[in-house]
Amino acid sequence: MAKRTIVALPGDGIGKAVLDETIRVLDAAGFDAEYVEGDIGWEFWKSEGNPLPDRTIELLKKHKIGLFGAITSKPKDEAFEELAPELKEKGLVYSSPIVGLRQLFGLDICMRPCHTYKGNPLNFIRRGVGDAIEEPLVDVVIFRQNTEGLYGGVEWTNPPTQVYDALMTHPKFKKNFGSTPKEEISISTRIFTKKATERILRAAFEHAKNYGYKSVTVCEKPNVIRETSGMMYKRALEMQKNEYPGIQLWNTNIDAQMMWLTKNPEDYGVIVAGNMFGDIVSDGFAGLIGGLGFACSAQFNPETEIGVFEPTHGSAPKYADYETSIVNPIAMVESACMMLDFIKENDMAAKIRKAVAEVVSEGKVRTYDMMKMRGQADVVEKGAASTQQMADAIIAKL
Ligand code: NAI
Ligand code: MG
Repeated sequence: MAKRTIVALPGDGIGKAVLDETIRVLDAAGFDAEYVEGDIGWEFWKSEGNPLPDRTIELLKKHKIGLFGAITSKPKDEAFEELAPELKEKGLVYSSPIVGLRQLFGLDICMRPCHTYKGNPLNFIRRGVGDAIEEPLVDVVIFRQNTEGLYGGVEWTNPPTQVYDALMTHPKFKKNFGSTPKEEISISTRIFTKKATERILRAAFEHAKNYGYKSVTVCEKPNVIRETSGMMYKRALEMQKNEYPGIQLWNTNIDAQMMWLTKNPEDYGVIVAGNMFGDIVSDGFAGLIGGLGFACSAQFNPETEIGVFEPTHGSAPKYADYETSIVNPIAMVESACMMLDFIKENDMAAKIRKAVAEVVSEGKVRTYDMMKMRGQADVVEKGAASTQQMADAIIAKL
């Protein structure tokens, strides 16, 4: 019997291609697992009116570890149009199955590492002293709170009277918005809880401690967003002082951080932020190390040890129907390495990362993004590696 059962969630578009190739890499590395496929995504919305069927939730409850490709999401009206005719009368409303998974399983820790591979032609370069060209080594891990904050979904246009009346008790609301008609007001809340804030901070500090990073940077905006960002920074100060004195605590504002990350990205180690700022800063760093073909992520609940591992990219529908898949599987392969680390198969993860590093630094096999080509069906004819060829190259190194 295989040692582990992994729930394979291909989803839509290119999700299946990158996941299939990644499973081949895992097999070649000797990872002893069996894969059960979980249904998720647009196809199931269209045919069943539910992009996250209960049977998929049951699979994850049972096996705890999901490897996820990507899904397609569309705006509300378009989603309704594509629903099977017999489902149209049922009053169904589309909502993202990823957000659903996060909330259902409390996958509140999102981890997004961004590190440069030597020889990656997509690495960020900058000018140094004189006319020197510098290629800073980036090794950053972003911890993003994954369930609350501005993406928590507590929002209104034309808020109910109780909400409006409560807001009117706040002097600033009354002064700045009190004369605007209620129907003309839209509100999206930014709620942070102490528990979730402490969990994401602890995950960040623990990672810094376990992997030898010298600093944890809280990347928020406590000087302006005093209550939520302020709470995160204040708790971080206390934690650093009482529990992690060996790790430096830095404090940056999200706006300034987006400027600094091109100026001195090599200075940062672990970064921790709320949901939206974590989303922003992780995309910023991903851009320095090769973009969507390289950006991987993990989301997990440290108590239940349920985790879903996925590339940051989406389903890239325009490439989905190519006869030969052209997208870069490295982001998905790296996400699988994060899964291996999570289940304590660290040696296996290291082995795969080393193989990827060798392929990238050799530079013989490169997908279209690494060759700075426009993504089109003929890129393979023009010398770019296909998804499968990239996986083959990694497997050859293993
Ligand atoms: P996307 O990430 O799917 O694609 C954007 C562009 O990035 C592509 O056209 C392609 O040029 C490039 N790209 C993406 N993955 C790549 C890879 N592995 N290798 C090389 N190049 C790659 O984002 P887009 O086009 O905004 O969204 C498409 C669909 O995906 C939408 O329905 C969106 O809602 C969904 N989406 C799903 C996500 C998820 O499953 N977690 C995340 C982001 C978007
Ligand atoms: Mg994003």
